[in-house]
Amino acid sequence: MDSHFLMRRIHSLTGVVPVGLFLIYHLYLQLYLHSGAEIYNNEVNSFYDSPLAIWTLVFVVYIPLFFHSFLGILLIFESTVQPSYTYYSHLLYWLQRISGIGVLLFILAHIWNTQLGPWVAGTWGTHFEHLSNGFADPDTGMLTKTVYVLGVLGAIFHFANGLNTFCMTWGIALTPNSQKRVRSFSIILFVILTASALYALAAIW
Ligand code: HEM
Repeated sequence: MDSHFLMRRIHSLTGVVPVGLFLIYHLYLQLYLHSGAEIYNNEVNSFYDSPLAIWTLVFVVYIPLFFHSFLGILLIFESTVQPSYTYYSHLLYWLQRISGIGVLLFILAHIWNTQLGPWVAGTWGTHFEHLSNGFADPDTGMLTKTVYVLGVLGAIFHFANGLNTFCMTWGIALTPNSQKRVRSFSIILFVILTASALYALAAIW
């Protein structure tokens, strides 16, 4: 099998399974911010109580995300837009790539902010307090909130829009009608995930 073909397939699959599914689960977990510090911290920490937690994260999230990001950066450099693309498809093509880079920077900042930073400082476990104090900080709070909103919306857009090319890559939507249905589905998914994420963030705004 041609290695470029394989690379595109691995990149495509990892974007949906498991990284995309993890994104949905992760956004769902954030709704617990509305239940207050104790319940939110218990929800998050109960996952880490399992001895398999760290390995699950490494194999189900970090390694696939690393592959998707690494191959995604290679694909950005070899970008070739089909001349037949409409203005709209052209725009989505570039927004997919720009949002990929934005999401990469956001994920790195997010892992430092919520995992490595608190772990180094010895405050790991009090996730609710850490997030809400970060948002309320008079000096840096506004910047943190802006980065979160842009990063989360960028990730949702990248995933929802990516479902269109995913369905073409895997032969799920090949006719114009089926591609229209997938586009409608991805727009609805984008709206639902955006509403859910903004509602979750509103709890600590
Ligand atoms: C929350 C994390 C991410 C999720 C859920 C995600 C999901 C997806 C999905 C579902 C696709 C469509 C796959 C296909 O076309 O078959 C995609 C495409 C793409 N992703 Fe990601 N992705 C994420 C992060 C990243 C990162 C960090 C990069 C690196 C810069 C990246 C770069 C790309 C590129 C360049 C494409 C377009 C590939 C093409 O059209 O040929 N993604 N992503």
